[in-house]
Amino acid sequence: MTIQWFPGHMTKARRQIQEKLKLIDVVIELVDARLPLSSRNPMIDEILQGKPRLIVLNKSDLADPAVTRQWIDFFKQEGHLAIQVDAYTGQGIKEIPLLAKELMKEKIERQLAKGINPRAVRALIVGIPNVGKSTLINRLAGRNIAATGDRPGVTKAQQWIKVGTEMELLDTPGILWPKFEDQNVGYRLALTGAIREEILNVEDIAFFGVKYLVKYYWEPFRERFDLKDQPTDFENPDEIVAVMEAIGRKRGCIVSGGRVDLEKASGILLRELRAGKLGRYTLEAPY
Ligand code: G4P
Repeated sequence: MTIQWFPGHMTKARRQIQEKLKLIDVVIELVDARLPLSSRNPMIDEILQGKPRLIVLNKSDLADPAVTRQWIDFFKQEGHLAIQVDAYTGQGIKEIPLLAKELMKEKIERQLAKGINPRAVRALIVGIPNVGKSTLINRLAGRNIAATGDRPGVTKAQQWIKVGTEMELLDTPGILWPKFEDQNVGYRLALTGAIREEILNVEDIAFFGVKYLVKYYWEPFRERFDLKDQPTDFENPDEIVAVMEAIGRKRGCIVSGGRVDLEKASGILLRELRAGKLGRYTLEAPY
């Protein structure tokens, strides 16, 4: 799904989330474990107005596990609770209601001390398009609730979904926009398929991806495309283009004169990358 985020849409999305904040106790901020910063909204702290928050790194099945652990430590050092899940299979999601309750611990203790029986913790899932909000809502609910492709501006009656006895979740997520101003963020989002590649140049996206991935995840590249030598100077564009040409030759993207069709090779590479054929990878590290 691609949403064209114009300033008016952003204001509307922000207002919709802030309306929902009045109804809930905790926010579940969903990010993509392969790009935990680039898949965040640039104004998230301001928008959430200090609501207790759990950061959930989704699609951890596709990300580099060692780097995911670093990201979780990073968010914890920033004072947030953070976990990794795979909303597609449901791996790790049982922790979510427990941690949501943990975020409300002090309030719950105060209520118990006053003899009040605390109600279930009310939560809202927020995140940019494609991070898996609908998938997670459906998993937590144990049935199909949210229509994938939910759009900002479409309002309907809010419903609460019971998640065990401890948590209630709003059935529609809060949709936020990514940080467009930084072109590298755009490349990372495009590499994972979170934004449509037509917005950016396909060769530029592939170049960006090859440059990063052959540096940190050389082995699956070497194996899949029969590559010989890992580039030595990753800042040298010629070395990166040479890898792209080798991939193109391997996939038969040859035009007249024996030249490699880089555009075609880039398209094939992106498809294979998104289909998980090049293994698990993370496109940015915290340290
Ligand atoms: P959104 O509401 O935040 O926009 O995201 P949505 O749930 O629609 O998920 C976007 C895509 O990400 C979907 O794939 C979904 O299956 C996939 N996805 C969500 N969570 C995970 C996860 O933890 N791991 C993996 N590997 N994929 C995940 P799609 O191709 O758009 O749809 P479909 O093929 O699943 O129908």
